[in-house]
Amino acid sequence: MQRPDILMPAPLRAIVPEGLEKISTLHKTFEAADPEAAIDAVADKIRGLAIGGFKVDEALLDRFPNLEIISNFGVGYDSIDAALCGQRGIMVTNTPDVLSDEVADTALGLMIMTVRELSAAERWLRAGNWKPGQNYPLTKATLQGRTLGVLGLGRIGKAIATRAEAFGMTVHYHGRTKQEDVSYPYHATLKGLAEACDTLMLVAPGGASTRHMVNAEILEALGPNGILINVGRGTVVDEAALIEALRSGTILSAGLDVLEDEPSVPQALIEMENAVLLPHVASASVHTRDAMGQLVVDNMSSWFRSSKALTPVAETPQSS
Ligand code: NAP
Ligand code: 8YV
Repeated sequence: MQRPDILMPAPLRAIVPEGLEKISTLHKTFEAADPEAAIDAVADKIRGLAIGGFKVDEALLDRFPNLEIISNFGVGYDSIDAALCGQRGIMVTNTPDVLSDEVADTALGLMIMTVRELSAAERWLRAGNWKPGQNYPLTKATLQGRTLGVLGLGRIGKAIATRAEAFGMTVHYHGRTKQEDVSYPYHATLKGLAEACDTLMLVAPGGASTRHMVNAEILEALGPNGILINVGRGTVVDEAALIEALRSGTILSAGLDVLEDEPSVPQALIEMENAVLLPHVASASVHTRDAMGQLVVDNMSSWFRSSKALTPVAETPQSS
């Protein structure tokens, strides 16, 4: 059987091209002097696209008349117009489960850093402030007695909730649907969740349906002892409203692994002592990124061997 032609328009972890080269003719067009011309030269024969966070819209899909599968490096696929792919019969896959524990671990770490001001305390030490008789000020917040509100109690949200319970936190959640097999209190609205908790953990996907869900009204409902943690997508938060809420004391502090316009970070956030900022690292260990990369390869491999994807997204279900 002829090997399929697969396009990788931007670099991914080495495990991806190494795996794909075993099963396909792989076109790493980002290595060409003129990458766009290199894509055009092979576009007609491309059957698979291996990407991560790469924008896939109508204009891009129009370039590949024989495309069958898009294998995305990442569980979030808000950069891909998956509904359009579904209409065109193009399979889209993502990388669920293999990163859930890593992301949940990071979320807990970020939450504790934020609540207990750990990065500010470290900056204080490194600046040479720790001297006899001088101690870092006691933190205003404690994790003890906090209630965690999870927006998006999915695979990662559940892994976060389990960990939070082990820390003695009470867990509530909001999503579009109440989950009958879950005992945590459900809130039909995000505002209801924000009113019921003092620590709001965002782990919902990006895209139009969640854009700016966390706005001034939600932050007001979270309140002056409130702490916002975001490991989902930056677009879920109205960043201008968040900056204002942090500045005015509407909420106490925020820990953000994801931002609205990555990798650009508003100077106002950088200057705020009550914001802990991470550069989208929740899944970023060699172990987990390689597991994600292997799943990108396995999806492609399974598709071209048996026309079955391992982890299709909801918009492009596997037909039996
Ligand atoms: P998942 O299992 O699909 O869970 C997503 C949850 O979000 C579901 O419980 C869903 O519940 C809820 N949700 C979806 N749309 C919603 C809406 N419009 N309003 C309210 N809730 C909504 O996905 P996952 O594997 O846990 O991943 C979640 C997200 O985490 C990814 O999409 C990605 O954006 C983000 N992520 C970030 C990193 C990082 O490095 N920071 C790493 C991995 C993942 P309902 O269906 O009931 O609404
Ligand atoms: C990765 C992520 O940072 O899986 C996701 O949705 O946001 C992260 O795991 C990203 O996908 C890498 O491209």
